[in-house]
Amino acid sequence: MALFEARDIQIHYQTSKGIVHALNGISFDVDKGEAFGIVGESGSGKTSLALGLLRLLPRNVEHYAGSLGLGGEDIMNLPENEFRMKIRWKKISMVFQGAMNSLNPVMRVGNQITEPLREGKVPKKDAHDRAVRMLELVGLSGDIFARYPHELSGGMKQRVVIAMALVQDPQLIILDEPTSALDVSIQAQIMNLLKRLKWEKKLSMIFITHDIALASDICDRLGVIYAGEMVETGSLEDVLQRPKHPYTQALLASTPRLHGETKPSFIPGIPPSLIAMPDGCKFRERCPYAFEPCDKTVPVFATSKNQKVQCWLYGDIHG
Ligand SMILES: Nc1ncnc2c1ncn2[C@@H]1O[C@H](COP(=O)(O)OP(=O)(O)O)[C@@H](O)[C@H]1O
Ligand SMILES: [Mg+2]
Repeated sequence: MALFEARDIQIHYQTSKGIVHALNGISFDVDKGEAFGIVGESGSGKTSLALGLLRLLPRNVEHYAGSLGLGGEDIMNLPENEFRMKIRWKKISMVFQGAMNSLNPVMRVGNQITEPLREGKVPKKDAHDRAVRMLELVGLSGDIFARYPHELSGGMKQRVVIAMALVQDPQLIILDEPTSALDVSIQAQIMNLLKRLKWEKKLSMIFITHDIALASDICDRLGVIYAGEMVETGSLEDVLQRPKHPYTQALLASTPRLHGETKPSFIPGIPPSLIAMPDGCKFRERCPYAFEPCDKTVPVFATSKNQKVQCWLYGDIHG
């Protein structure tokens, strides 16, 4: 059994222009100690998914449905009070997109790390010691405890944010674009830190990024998301070497290669409006292989034991 199971997650927002169908049935599993990558371009629904998993969605959510399991327990139907007491930050935590820029500027970073422990009535000395251990775990000196955010570099702030996410010893951490605000060299240092944490702490991760190359640096499996649907999931090797969905293929072809002979290509067209959602495959307007069944709802087909694709091209596999 997987540590974490998400099934058919749907999130719609109410807006003045109509209902925005941000997520339209996303399913995936994360095993213990595994990093599952969620890759998709801007606006595909990655942050909505992350916020939904922790029940931190904005007020204008009109519809949130699906099922979520953690260690075999249904956590979707837990009352909010229990979810807050047992799950959020304690078993599942998150590094928000852009979090390093939203540290409290007037609070010492150590106190920002100990805050949830203090709220949980952990004695001050124990909370302090734990924060220092967390700072050391993420590669910072314990002296950083007394500093203010403006005294730290971007890379140090991102380490603090990761320490904050780890302080209650979660089983699963969601990382939403955890390096996108950093210089490339600092980005590599943070990736090394995350790889070490994954290995040393057997931490499970949901690693969210628009950058498939970055995801391939740490993830064991990948899910590719397009217009709020998971169009393909598989092992890192399957998805990178044998991409099945035309969108995954286009995404890979648009990624520059260091030693490649071919120039990266652009994916023609734009993603569909999430307000007037077409039936059938959301990628079909941009797809070079679109054919007549593509305007009908697309099931998920298993192309191998571990690879699944939501595309009619693979429809004959199950007959
Ligand atoms: N609170 C909101 N109200 C209305 N639309 C939203 C809201 N948050 C996100 N969206 C829309 O939902 C879609 C998915 O957004 P998001 O989850 O942020 O994607 P990503 O993180 O992949 O860039 C986008 O079209 C975005 O404009
Ligand atoms: Mg986002």
